[in-house]
Amino acid sequence: MRGAVFGIKRIYLLPVLILMLGLMLTGCGSQGQSGGFIKKEGVSSIIGVSQANMREEWRVALINELRQEIDASEDIQIITSDATGSAKKQIQDIDNLIGYGIDLLIISPCDEKELADKIKEVYDSGIPVIVMDRAVEGFDYTLYIGPDNEVIGQQAGNYVGGLLSDGGKVVELLGRPSSIQGSERLSGFRKALDGFDNIEVQKLYLDSESKDAAYDIMVSARKFIEEADVIFAYSDSMALGVCDAVREMGLEEKVKIVDCDGFKGADEGIDLVKQGRLAATVSCPIGGKEAFDYAVSILGNESGVPKQVILRSSLITLDNLEESIARMNQPVYDDGRTIRVGYSQVGKESNWRLANTKSIEDAAKKFNIDLHMEIADQSQQKQFEAIRQFIDEKVDVIVVSPVVETGWDEVLREAKSAGIPVIMSDRNVSLENSEENLTTTYLGADFMEEGRRAMRWIRDNVPAEGGKKKILEIMGNEGASPTEERGRGFREILSENPGYGIAYSEHGDFTFDGGRQVIRDYLAENEWDIDIIFSHNDDMALGAIKELKEHGIYPDTDVRIVSVDATKDAFEAMVKKELSCAVECNPVIGDQLMKAIRDLCGGKQMPFRIITDEKIYDQSVAEELIRKRIY
Ligand code: AHR
Repeated sequence: MRGAVFGIKRIYLLPVLILMLGLMLTGCGSQGQSGGFIKKEGVSSIIGVSQANMREEWRVALINELRQEIDASEDIQIITSDATGSAKKQIQDIDNLIGYGIDLLIISPCDEKELADKIKEVYDSGIPVIVMDRAVEGFDYTLYIGPDNEVIGQQAGNYVGGLLSDGGKVVELLGRPSSIQGSERLSGFRKALDGFDNIEVQKLYLDSESKDAAYDIMVSARKFIEEADVIFAYSDSMALGVCDAVREMGLEEKVKIVDCDGFKGADEGIDLVKQGRLAATVSCPIGGKEAFDYAVSILGNESGVPKQVILRSSLITLDNLEESIARMNQPVYDDGRTIRVGYSQVGKESNWRLANTKSIEDAAKKFNIDLHMEIADQSQQKQFEAIRQFIDEKVDVIVVSPVVETGWDEVLREAKSAGIPVIMSDRNVSLENSEENLTTTYLGADFMEEGRRAMRWIRDNVPAEGGKKKILEIMGNEGASPTEERGRGFREILSENPGYGIAYSEHGDFTFDGGRQVIRDYLAENEWDIDIIFSHNDDMALGAIKELKEHGIYPDTDVRIVSVDATKDAFEAMVKKELSCAVECNPVIGDQLMKAIRDLCGGKQMPFRIITDEKIYDQSVAEELIRKRIY
């Protein structure tokens, strides 16, 4: 087996090997070549994998998946360690892995809070870090890859709701306490079920999240089970216990069982669907393959590596089983041909947008993509026309940066019927039925987080002393995803801080003139009494600054201003001490988008979301960083 630590050839020995290595690493200290690890000849890079524990089956599956990928590679070697659920041991493991001279660290943290500083330390030392499964707060890692467990639960809930269209009884299994993944899945499941009428939910508490605990509870709660229409278990192992118990009770024909995980392998989710024992499973991709692919890109200094990749989960039933398996096993191959892409761009409303358009045009040339871009001047109608034109032109891929979130279902259905995949870039859409899969992925910023960051900066830098601080919010255009999500994220943190309140909120449509107009309108009716302005982008903040100055109101002295985008103009305003803080929204996403397009055309299953790298800046760093700003 290429890349194996001790040359052991059998995959089934893996857990033992990992355990041994976990123990060995603990005892080795950080003495590089000591402790039995030998770098194989011809190997150019070593990847260290720090796993939180090897009790949970998906964690073993992650190591297996990574190992399979690495086995197929000539020049990469892997060292794994098992923290056995202890954050303290995981920190020690990481030190030991570094001592072995690893070139990249993949970590699935057992406690993202306790591991955050260690991850930052490794990242700051120049070793790239891929964080898996649970993201640590902040930006001090190279890439995060993980599932969206809420969405996984929602997919299961929507399916169960559809099964029980005339109402019925659902029994859901809860671990005590449920893992974070379990809690998120249950939360998504319940939210989805709330949308259906006449469904009664009973809860059964398990002493652990295991097959045996699930089996035992089924047997002891037989009365409930006999009355149930559907049983929901949020993992494959729990589902297997349920399946066994239900079979023994002779209730297989009556009760439907639905779960999450959808692992491959005997008696795992997919196999149980195949056997007809599970009605459905929602697959939770493990991400080992993705982690390996991105590790190779990072080690090769390739461009186009995003900050976060949220993996795609899908509902698997007997009806789509073959197709789902085929999709999972589909070979990925980029033949290097020119790919034809139609891009519908929002408009030219801001400097951010101009930089975004340029980044996409430049990257298209670099990635051998024949780009046809149509600028929509903020008109959804024009975007519909552009998309229909791209369909007529039979492009390979359509990319849309939508002016507003809603109203896209019909035109996207047309693209789907024409067999043309659609990628959402920069902004996302809100669709009537997410199960229709009208878009392949979203690539862009996390707008919610941008809003949260803005309010966190305010909380930490503009103390709420001497009465409630009044905030004036200048919003982007109505119905656009950055407007809606930045507003929501900002309010989320605001709601935890009663010393601040939004006194006035108006749309400035992301333009310089729009920002000016909002201030003009406010001053037409009010004396200036605002402490803080939160502007959804820089152009509007700069317009507001101009207008304020004309009224003898001094930005940063009379009012603190926080905006989103962090363009060069915003840096200039921070250097001039007019703008207080700029939350970054990165428009330079061309390379990441083109990489995603090539991956898609090469047959790769797209993740749900690909999130770009973003930071936050204020006056304390503006002078030092302004020269490096490229937009
Ligand atoms: O969709 C991204 C937003 O659109 C940017 O923040 C803003 O400047 C823009 O025009």
